[in-house]
Amino acid sequence: MFQSLSRLHEDGILGLMAKFRADPSPRKIDLGVGVYRDADGHTPVLDCVRRAEQAVLAAQTTKSYVAAAGRAEFNEAVTDFVLGAAHPAVRDGRSIAVQAPGGCGALRLGAELIRAAAPAVSIHISDPTWGNHAPLLGGSGLALLRYPYYDATARRLRFDAMLEHLSAAAAGDVVLIHACCHNPCGADLALDQWRALIEILERRRLLPFLDLAYQGFGEDAEADVAGLRLVAQSVPECLIATSFSKNLGLYRERVGALLAIGEGAVHAAAVKSHVLQIARGIYSMPPDHGAAIAAHIFADAELRRSWMTELAAMRGRIHAMRVLLAQSLREARADDAFGFLTGQRGLFSLLGATPAAVERLRQEHHVYMTADSRMNLAGVTPHNVAYLGDAICRILG
Ligand code: LMR
Repeated sequence: MFQSLSRLHEDGILGLMAKFRADPSPRKIDLGVGVYRDADGHTPVLDCVRRAEQAVLAAQTTKSYVAAAGRAEFNEAVTDFVLGAAHPAVRDGRSIAVQAPGGCGALRLGAELIRAAAPAVSIHISDPTWGNHAPLLGGSGLALLRYPYYDATARRLRFDAMLEHLSAAAAGDVVLIHACCHNPCGADLALDQWRALIEILERRRLLPFLDLAYQGFGEDAEADVAGLRLVAQSVPECLIATSFSKNLGLYRERVGALLAIGEGAVHAAAVKSHVLQIARGIYSMPPDHGAAIAAHIFADAELRRSWMTELAAMRGRIHAMRVLLAQSLREARADDAFGFLTGQRGLFSLLGATPAAVERLRQEHHVYMTADSRMNLAGVTPHNVAYLGDAICRILG
């Protein structure tokens, strides 16, 4: 049977991780995979996570199954964190949350749910978008379309083109929206742009599916969901995929959730039953360890405060590296072509280079970024920024 299969290319992001590890150069710089790094290039275990983990392990008396939806207290806390306890959908019992294996698991659950409810609809994803969106969502069998979002050469949003595209979308279609810290371009919508988008979502009766992988990496954990909350207040139905890989640094524990808002409590309950059946048919139940840690932090005021402080430090370091790289490029080139880096948010920005230039950066200078020229700014440090700026100038001119 397997003779029919030919070997596939490696995943663009995971393949780059392997290439970076194999490079013996002491100068190498990893701007590839989207993980936070400190000034020593290390991805730390957060202090609040270490403390919560010890408490979780000390209190654990069984490894028996939890439940199909994961931990109830985790799902409740996530709903508060994302939507706010006073959100009308929460108050009216129209929202549900199901723990999922990371944001990826939540995205796939959402796509399978949409396919169960309306197999003929298309999902509109942004151009550009994260490399794994198409496989995760398209793997459900739903058709994918792309809406214009960001011009990497002009280094600005294509907001009018985005609205024009969505104004022509078929009623009932789904729009995948990056809630904050757009991956890969770091350019987010301003609140008035969210309002204009909501007007079209309502008029065209489009279902928003919000991908929230970086809450707390933009401005702060509350401000980063301002647009998302506006959407969730305005439309009758929406889906949200959230992740704690980045903001709690729980990458390998695979902790996330799918949130859904239905038109009424009865619809929300029906949605939940479908999500649980879909999950049962794919992986049965989500892993518990990371969710237990997250739930413990949510429930402990001191640990939660400490988390917010650590999150602010990660956010502050990324922003400082944006400023430093822009400054180093300004000095080297005597222009402000890369000043846009300081106005963008989260881990990523697009350098705006061709795949050939990205390949030369890797081969000639040991600087690693994905082929679309996405840079993880957390890979920049005060020690490597001069070398990096010089390498970029040598390749881009
Ligand atoms: C990324 O965008 O690099 C991260 O979200 C890691 C991944 O799974 O691709």
